[in-house]
Amino acid sequence: MPFRTALAGGVGVVLCLLGTWNSGVAAAGSASVPIETVVDYIYAVLASDRTFYTVHVVERMQQRGVIESSERWRSDPTLPLPAQFVQESSSLAALTGVKVHYRLISLNPINKLSGPATEFEKKGLEAIMAEPDRPYKGFVTEGGERRFQALYADRAVSPVCVTCHNAHPQSPKRDYTLNGVLGAVSISIPVP
Ligand code: HEC
Repeated sequence: MPFRTALAGGVGVVLCLLGTWNSGVAAAGSASVPIETVVDYIYAVLASDRTFYTVHVVERMQQRGVIESSERWRSDPTLPLPAQFVQESSSLAALTGVKVHYRLISLNPINKLSGPATEFEKKGLEAIMAEPDRPYKGFVTEGGERRFQALYADRAVSPVCVTCHNAHPQSPKRDYTLNGVLGAVSISIPVP
């Protein structure tokens, strides 16, 4: 009898604990995340992927003289540029239907199409150049749709960023330095 009572009591405690754990999971699942934090999450993943690609693929291959990166990567035996890595990834993301848009922009772009496209982007890029550690965020309207947009400083995380941008014939600026800011990563998501 004492053994049975102890067993029943033990099972009761375990069930009780499981109940608490379950309700904890349910509560966490229903918590809403602020939209500013959602874009921070997206930025963290995409910036880390591109940094890894630049440092451990582009820089590594270039330093060993194996293969360079260039705009003509589809036709020439070269790797895609880090900027094209972002463009291609963004086009693939668009195919998933989640309507997250991201691209690289700059006040001194190599590609004229990558200059600021709106007043928000112009002000944001100016703010980021002045204070790179503070992302520029706000609500915008794009194609009649209300969206939340955030700009994050895009730094020269590898010497290849600096040498290529300083040497490129279409680059309007040629005095970039390692870890300096080349522009911004722009992310925008629809507001529910
Ligand atoms: C081998 C050359 C090369 C390397 C390496 C390179 N870029 Fe670029 N980058 C370019 C070119 C060319 C473009 C324009 C591509 C296009 O849109 O056609 C560009 C575009 C950009 C843009 C968009 C604005 C613009 O200038 O058109 C940003 C921002 C940028 N790069 C940042 C970086 C950063 C940060 C790194 C390193 C992590 C980097 N780039 C590495 C050549 C390079």
